[in-house]
Amino acid sequence: MIIETPSKVILFGEHAVVYGYRAISMAIDLTSTIEIRDIDGNEIILNLNDLNKSLRLNLNEIKNINPNNFGDFKYCLCAIKNTINYLNIEPKTGFEINISSKIPISCGLGSSASITIGTIRTVSKFYNKQLKDDEIAKLGYMVEKEIQGKASITDTSTITYKGILEIKNNKFKKIEGKFEEFLKSCKFLIVYAEKRKKKTAELVNEVAKIENKDEIFKKIDKIIENSLKTDNKEDFGKLMTKNHELLKKLNISTPKLDKVVDIGNRFGFGAKLTGAGGGGCVIILVNEEKEKELLKELNKENVKIFKCKMIN
Ligand code: PMV
Repeated sequence: MIIETPSKVILFGEHAVVYGYRAISMAIDLTSTIEIRDIDGNEIILNLNDLNKSLRLNLNEIKNINPNNFGDFKYCLCAIKNTINYLNIEPKTGFEINISSKIPISCGLGSSASITIGTIRTVSKFYNKQLKDDEIAKLGYMVEKEIQGKASITDTSTITYKGILEIKNNKFKKIEGKFEEFLKSCKFLIVYAEKRKKKTAELVNEVAKIENKDEIFKKIDKIIENSLKTDNKEDFGKLMTKNHELLKKLNISTPKLDKVVDIGNRFGFGAKLTGAGGGGCVIILVNEEKEKELLKELNKENVKIFKCKMIN
């Protein structure tokens, strides 16, 4: 059995969401793939295909394992453990899990949440148990909390429910209808501009010190209000760029991110950094009439480009 799981981007409202304002996140078709099959014996074998790493465990160990001792395997292991414990299963047959991912890591696209949610779906199906999305999202959130100590529902919820979510006070609301239809018609580029120089927590702490941050967050919220009424790509792109300008005032952008956003503005409908900032990714709304020039300009910048669409 093979299960493909999306990743996510924040369209608007990163950092503001930490202070009780809303953010809009979107599931995208940059995916991770998890394959599971039963094997003879009483072992669990995990293969991280992209990293060329494998781990073998005895089935008896999984229910009480401390996943934080297992480096790159930790999200997958924690997801297996929590799913088996939640479903109250006594695992008797061994299995092998193969994980591959197209999602760049540590740049705000929810690569670990994608693996986590994918593993929960795969393992529960393997045991012929049908979990509801609410249960999957909750289990995913618990995994992130166990591994990171602290977690936001943004990644695990967006990746579980797909489509567009409004996040506020660690709760979400799915946005459907016209806005979702509009975004479905949009083509985006995710541009991995540069490695992040700082961790999310560090950037959040730096933003906390900015005196007029509330003023900025209120303006971002207004952008969100306007974006939800839009079904015009040109206007939507301009709102993305406006959000980027405000994020610059929070000092979380970098010259490289600004350069890529500038290219996105000149050859696309608009662009902004996405996620915590300090490097990482830019999201560009593609203007198909100028897509070739956009790609040509971006290719001069030593960046990684991922074409993507909303997935629901
Ligand atoms: O770590 P990232 O890039 O997924 O960004 C998190 C978004 C923030 O608003 C900066 C933090 C948060 O917890 O919402």
